[in-house]
Amino acid sequence: MDFPASDAKRVPPDSEAFYIPLPSTNSSSRSRRSLTSHIIGGIFLVAIVLAAAFSRAKSKAPAQLEPFYAHVSRPEGFCTGVDGRTLSSFAGHIGLKGDTEDQPKRSFFWFFQAEHDSDNAPIILTIGGGPGSSGLLNPMFGQSHCIMTENGTVANPNRWTERYNLLAIDHPIGVGFSYGTHVNNSRDAAYDVYDFLQKFFRLYPHLAKSTFALSGGSYGGVYVPNIATVIHEQNLLLAQGRGQHGAVHINLEALIISNPMSDPISHFRWLLQYRCVETNLYNSTTCTELYAVLPECLEAIQLAYDYPSRENHKKAFALCFKMEAGDTHGTLVEDTRRKCNMTNDVASCFPVFDHMKKYFNDPATKAALGVPAHLNYTPLNMDVNKEFEDFGDIFHPHYLLYEPLLKAGIRVLHYVGARDANCAWPGVLSFLKLLRTPFQEEFIHAPDVPWPAKENATVRVVGDGAGSMTFIKVAEAGHFTVYDQPALAKMIVEHWLENQPFIPSMES
Ligand SMILES: *[C@@H]1O[C@H](CO)[C@@H](O)[C@H](O)[C@H]1NC(C)=O
Ligand SMILES: *[C@@H]1O[C@H](CO)[C@@H](O)[C@H](O)[C@H]1NC(C)=O
Ligand SMILES: *[C@@H]1O[C@H](CO)[C@@H](O)[C@H](O)[C@H]1NC(C)=O
Ligand SMILES: *[C@@H]1O[C@H](CO)[C@@H](O)[C@H](O)[C@H]1NC(C)=O
Ligand SMILES: *[C@@H]1O[C@H](CO)[C@@H](O)[C@H](O)[C@H]1NC(C)=O
Repeated sequence: MDFPASDAKRVPPDSEAFYIPLPSTNSSSRSRRSLTSHIIGGIFLVAIVLAAAFSRAKSKAPAQLEPFYAHVSRPEGFCTGVDGRTLSSFAGHIGLKGDTEDQPKRSFFWFFQAEHDSDNAPIILTIGGGPGSSGLLNPMFGQSHCIMTENGTVANPNRWTERYNLLAIDHPIGVGFSYGTHVNNSRDAAYDVYDFLQKFFRLYPHLAKSTFALSGGSYGGVYVPNIATVIHEQNLLLAQGRGQHGAVHINLEALIISNPMSDPISHFRWLLQYRCVETNLYNSTTCTELYAVLPECLEAIQLAYDYPSRENHKKAFALCFKMEAGDTHGTLVEDTRRKCNMTNDVASCFPVFDHMKKYFNDPATKAALGVPAHLNYTPLNMDVNKEFEDFGDIFHPHYLLYEPLLKAGIRVLHYVGARDANCAWPGVLSFLKLLRTPFQEEFIHAPDVPWPAKENATVRVVGDGAGSMTFIKVAEAGHFTVYDQPALAKMIVEHWLENQPFIPSMES
């Protein structure tokens, strides 16, 4: 199917890149003529998309649609689907607020079109963790049309894109192929995503009505509640007529989170239980030493929550991350089933990170994705990591952001690989129990029911259908649940988004 199906003429079926020039900085003119006069040759077509958005908005409200940088290609022959079928995708950059030629601020995206009825299919926004890891990891681990191997991509039999549109972004700026002015905290980064989405829906207005879901894991457990909160708050403002001019309502319906770090206090409260009692990751000497640090660590985080100064963040970081650094005698923290000594480079135990690096730095891949040749791709950007660390971004009770979202009817799914000692499941279940919502009492007492078979997963559900608040523990998966259990992850996500009960008898 062509994309967008109804606007096929606007998008030529080749990998030619489009370019919308930026307005000159001193010009406030936003007339259709001033835009199109910048347009030359093959870029004409996207200008029409923008102009259409202008005239549509004009007829309703006083629109303040500022021209923005957009560069979109169609990577034909890249990330192809099953049976050699080419599944459609689009990739490119969108300029965010403050973006100029001299000081760019550009978010990279790769939009994988749903195989069936893309125009009406839900959209899943997928991001990375880190902070600093690329939003292309999860798509290439098992969400998108294709998966990464040592020899490039192969078709993905367990793609989420059979039923859903998948919108991958390198988040925040500085990560992967997103480049330019950085931000150093998850709230500012969430506003950037909102800006990105408004512009994305201006380029593809027919998608704006779609059901929208957010997906992330690990540090994505910090990003997702922040992004969801900004979208929800802006939706409320729009409904009151106080939203950003020209902005559209984003149909945020559900969140999909795996192995998250959303509340450091819960995380550290349970960390040694997992590493010393549930498993023998640490030996008895290490456990005794580290239990002595635990109360002080929890106190330091509480202080950092209550008084978020740089000093308090640093102190909490220094104290608590000692507990992460015990000798595991060769067991891999991210997957306690495996022996592997992780050096500084994550690729030493997960070679797929190196395959990603090789693939996305290949000039042919960059050309297909419309990425400037000079951009260097790293799966994990340590500068961004350091900037978020310096800000103390992690030491906030991000999980509390779920309370208003749950109360507003946004459904929240956690599916957690149980062999992960990095973001271990007991700390996740703990913060979920602490959320003060109408579901709290029921969630605390709900049983963990085997699904679909005893050895694979258990589900704890509160609410109708697939649940308002659902926790799934996946037995045979580590930190990267999609990577370890791709078929199960697909089943979980499909149940979740179709809002089908996991356990049929739990319907009544
Ligand atoms: C990758 O290609 C090499 C050389 O052709 C081959 O030996 C290897 O088995 C391939 N790997 C995979 C995962 O297909
Ligand atoms: C536990 O591991 C530490 C660090 O490798 C080591 O120094 C210590 O001797 C070990 N203790 C036991 C009881 O094996
Ligand atoms: C990991 O390192 C330890 C020593 O630090 C060594 O004894 C062990 O064999 C190594 N394990 C692997 C899987 O390389
Ligand atoms: C975070 O970024 C802001 C804006 O660039 C800057 O003013 C601030 O100093 C940064 N904070 C830290 C701790 O680096
Ligand atoms: C459940 O786990 C078993 C054993 O690891 C595996 O063979 C099977 O494919 C899994 N089922 C699903 C639905 O992932």
